[in-house]
Amino acid sequence: MASSSTTSITIFILPIFLLTCLSPIVLSEKCSPHEKKALLQIKQELGNPSMLSSWNASTDCCSWNGIQVECSNTKPYHVSQLELYGLDLPAPVNIPPSIFNLLDLEQLFLFKMPNLTGPIPSQITNLKKLSILYIFSTNVSGPIPDSLAQIKTLWSVNLSGNNLSGKLPPSLPSLPTISVIFFKGNRISGPIPDSYGSFVSKNLSSLTLSHNMLSGKIPASLRGLDVSFLDLSWNKLEGDGSVLFGAEKSTAEITLAGNYLSFDIGKVEFGRNISRLNLKHNRIYGKLPEGLTKLPHLTRLNVSYNQLCGPIPQGGRLQGYFPIDASSFANNKCLCGPPLSPCK
Ligand SMILES: *[C@@H]1O[C@H](CO)[C@@H](O)[C@H](O)[C@H]1NC(C)=O
Ligand SMILES: *[C@@H]1O[C@H](CO)[C@@H](O)[C@H](O)[C@H]1NC(C)=O
Ligand SMILES: *[C@@H]1O[C@H](CO)[C@@H](O)[C@H](O)[C@H]1NC(C)=O
Ligand SMILES: *[C@@H]1O[C@H](CO)[C@@H](O)[C@H](O)[C@H]1NC(C)=O
Ligand SMILES: *[C@@H]1O[C@H](CO)[C@@H](O)[C@H](O)[C@H]1NC(C)=O
Ligand SMILES: *[C@@H]1O[C@H](CO)[C@@H](O)[C@H](O)[C@H]1NC(C)=O
Ligand SMILES: *[C@@H]1O[C@H](CO)[C@@H](O)[C@H](O)[C@H]1NC(C)=O
Ligand SMILES: *[C@@H]1O[C@H](CO)[C@@H](O)[C@H](O)[C@H]1NC(C)=O
Repeated sequence: MASSSTTSITIFILPIFLLTCLSPIVLSEKCSPHEKKALLQIKQELGNPSMLSSWNASTDCCSWNGIQVECSNTKPYHVSQLELYGLDLPAPVNIPPSIFNLLDLEQLFLFKMPNLTGPIPSQITNLKKLSILYIFSTNVSGPIPDSLAQIKTLWSVNLSGNNLSGKLPPSLPSLPTISVIFFKGNRISGPIPDSYGSFVSKNLSSLTLSHNMLSGKIPASLRGLDVSFLDLSWNKLEGDGSVLFGAEKSTAEITLAGNYLSFDIGKVEFGRNISRLNLKHNRIYGKLPEGLTKLPHLTRLNVSYNQLCGPIPQGGRLQGYFPIDASSFANNKCLCGPPLSPCK
């Protein structure tokens, strides 16, 4: 009895031992079968682009092109990052639905693919660990799903240079750790939601909504918005942009160029951290405030093409600090004094 069980153990152990020695690659495969299956489906859904030729069913997905597919370093191993860019897509194709079976994905990058089309599917909320979502320079269209706010781990979202339309998702400000929102260059329309004045995240650093079709008045609630980088330029926004400023705000760069904003700049107080201020091509009126001369970090300033009037305050960096020059103040109603011509 004993010897026969020893024999059977030997019969079982020996091949396993040999297998372990002879093909360590197979036995140490980190890729889980269901993730490999999802990835191979993604490849198929994209029409088997040649740039995914390293995606081979007989090898470990964690050893495929290490830029496209990255796995976690610690057990249990999982696909943590997927980066598909510049793929040769011979015909228009939607975002591959099998991406949303990679449930442990933390970073998803889809970019520089003109033939990537269709909507951002609501199944994106399957990805409950996603912190970085970059979909840019594609033809992905339709609205930005408001359900993105269900992915509580989101930290940075870049959806620039696509064909996205519809309204701004009102729930994004509820994301607890969002830091970067970058939606430049789409066809997003309608007003900025009131909720954008009360981001829950203590870590919001950048809000870029430029080159869209946003319209309506700047909501008064944006008095409560404080970000390092704010870019609302080249939309159709109206109303009182002064709520975006305030002595208590930490904003370093603010770009409101190319809108229809209309407010008295004389009443604006600037935060000390402002380094770049671009207000050109609006309908801003009033006298430039003395406070502009007290901004120690100011390096860029452009208030041209507005309806400003009166003497330019003298001092600080408003005169003789390249590249701030006459063109920074040009084409206003009646601004005068250096670097423009003397007041009459
Ligand atoms: C996958 O890899 C195996 C082993 O390296 C190779 O024999 C096979 O041709 C590859 N298949 C494809 C479709 O590239
Ligand atoms: C995109 O698809 C069209 C067919 O609809 C094709 O003619 C074109 O070459 C593709 N573009 C790229 C960059 O592969
Ligand atoms: C969108 O597709 C058009 C052709 O249909 C193409 O000219 C354009 O470059 C694409 N846009 C992007 C951002 O890929
Ligand atoms: C977002 O993507 C664009 C490319 O369309 C790039 O220029 C920009 O720097 C990116 N922004 C962030 C914050 O990642
Ligand atoms: C952009 O989206 C609109 C629908 O919102 C669609 O009609 C148009 O064809 C899309 N453009 C491209 C280049 O895909
Ligand atoms: C806050 O953002 C910074 C960088 O902007 C990042 O290093 C840090 O991890 C973030 N903190 C949280 C809690 O997300
Ligand atoms: C200015 O920026 C620094 C970091 O660069 C920050 O610590 C500080 O709080 C900011 N100042 C104000 C007034 O918010
Ligand atoms: C200010 O903006 C105007 C109009 O776009 C431009 O011509 C000028 O060069 C800009 N000047 C500076 C210093 O940025």
